[in-house]
Amino acid sequence: MKNNHWWKNAVVYQIYPKSFQDSNNDGVGDLQGIISRLDYLQKLGVDILWLNPIYESPQVDNGYDISDYRAINPTLGTMADFDQLLAAVHQRGMKLVMDLVVNHTSDQHRWFVAAKQGHDNPYRDFYIWRDGKDGHAPNNWGSYFSGPAWKYDPASDQYYLHLFAPEQPDLNWANPKVRTAVYEMMNWWADKGVDGFRMDVINLISKPQGLPDGPQSADEKYATVEGFVPNGPRVHDYLREMNRHVMSKHRMITVGETPGVTPTDAQRYANLDNQELNMVFQFEHMNLDANPNPALGKWYDQKPCLTDLRANLSKWQTELAGTAWNSLYWNNHDQPRVVSRFGDVSTEDYRVKSAKMLATMTHFMQGTPYIYEGEEIGMTNAGFTRLADYVDLESLNAYHQLVEEQGLVDGPTMLKYLAMHSRDNARTPMQWDGSANAGFSTHQPWEKVMANYRRINVDNALADPNSIFYYYQRLIRLRHTMPVITDGAYALVVGNEDDPAVFAYTRHDQETTLLVILNYTAQPLERHYDIPDTAERLISNYHDDQGDTLRPYEAKVYQY
Ligand code: GLC
Repeated sequence: MKNNHWWKNAVVYQIYPKSFQDSNNDGVGDLQGIISRLDYLQKLGVDILWLNPIYESPQVDNGYDISDYRAINPTLGTMADFDQLLAAVHQRGMKLVMDLVVNHTSDQHRWFVAAKQGHDNPYRDFYIWRDGKDGHAPNNWGSYFSGPAWKYDPASDQYYLHLFAPEQPDLNWANPKVRTAVYEMMNWWADKGVDGFRMDVINLISKPQGLPDGPQSADEKYATVEGFVPNGPRVHDYLREMNRHVMSKHRMITVGETPGVTPTDAQRYANLDNQELNMVFQFEHMNLDANPNPALGKWYDQKPCLTDLRANLSKWQTELAGTAWNSLYWNNHDQPRVVSRFGDVSTEDYRVKSAKMLATMTHFMQGTPYIYEGEEIGMTNAGFTRLADYVDLESLNAYHQLVEEQGLVDGPTMLKYLAMHSRDNARTPMQWDGSANAGFSTHQPWEKVMANYRRINVDNALADPNSIFYYYQRLIRLRHTMPVITDGAYALVVGNEDDPAVFAYTRHDQETTLLVILNYTAQPLERHYDIPDTAERLISNYHDDQGDTLRPYEAKVYQY
């Protein structure tokens, strides 16, 4: 077997190419920009780079609408740039993971262009077409991006399914030709030397049999597909088939983005037997707070309470142990910035302390840590206050639907939630230095640079030995050198289950015990834990140790 869990103690760094580094000064990040920053990433110590989609795309959803799977988006560079990037990554001993977006294509993909030509076109069945029902869409499904999940095509008098934007038609995975085409494409990239794939919404590829109506509450215009479309009847067959045709043939790493999965689902998707994927991105810890206003659903209101967060993280630690593998993340291009959401940006000191505390929480757990660009310097939410500053279509569609069309939320309230939750919060340009546009570009960037870039930037982080950057660097090194972090058993400290303010857990193997103590709040607290005299403090976000006194956001890890 080629896949021997080589990735188990690896740390992944996620690059959002459009926002990372612009090299040709058109305001958009690019592949040469990434190449120019590889030394920085090597210094951080990460093993694997995951790039958000860099393929040819009309960019309706920032590259998640792919029009050619084997071409590079010209704004980002050429295939020669890509080959150069891949070689440069490998030369530094790192690996490169691509985004695989195969639940849907762009409506400009040649398969869809052909499919639209009529019922008889050989590509028609690459997508999901249905007749309307009494002059309406074939069923009541709503899209993830607001509005219906079906679009009417007058030329053929049929509707096609799009779980995301209308420009992102869903592929018909029930058609074996679709699957073969996808596997061939994956092997083509693997043969080029790509080291793996992050698979976009991969648990949506198998649709419920017969595409029935979904449950719809009285105040919903469409049924919320999140509740019943994921984990369809044939998804595991497809992934096993994909594994046989692709993954088993290469030494690669795969992570499936799988919204709505439980630990039981993950035991199938990411079982250590290597039949499907290596690990999943699950979202439970990102969705702990429902908003009190039902129309706002996932647009939460405040930071999750520690009791819920700890119970959730612990559940995943315990239920996957020994059988399956999870990813460990706080951030990605779809989530607001962790330090603004779970941490504290009210003072500079708290920003730094809480960012390190949160990093400690996940980096000592079992799983594969993912660091999203800018997280390692504690970048914050953009918190835009004007609708005009938003670029992301999910945010704009939600505003239009909830405020303008349905009147379920008033404008100022919606802006308040977007400032906390919009995906644009994570997509602002990487802050490299204090020069114009944060050193990202000399041209005006495609998305606004945050006002705090003169304070929060890579230059400052590298110059300060106490920076968040160097803390992450140490966390990564510890994972590489201490097997207990990868394989040790996880346990909550007895009595910690209901502590509203402190999270305390251990990792343990035959030689070593690690005790992780985290003050999740800005309050100074007293807590007593039994720590052997021989224990050493392995890492902390404070210089000294005050024993049972825990200072604001204090994080410390003992080894014994
Ligand atoms: C995933 C991506 C997100 C994209 C969506 C549709 O959730 O992470 O950015 O909009 O899939 O492809």
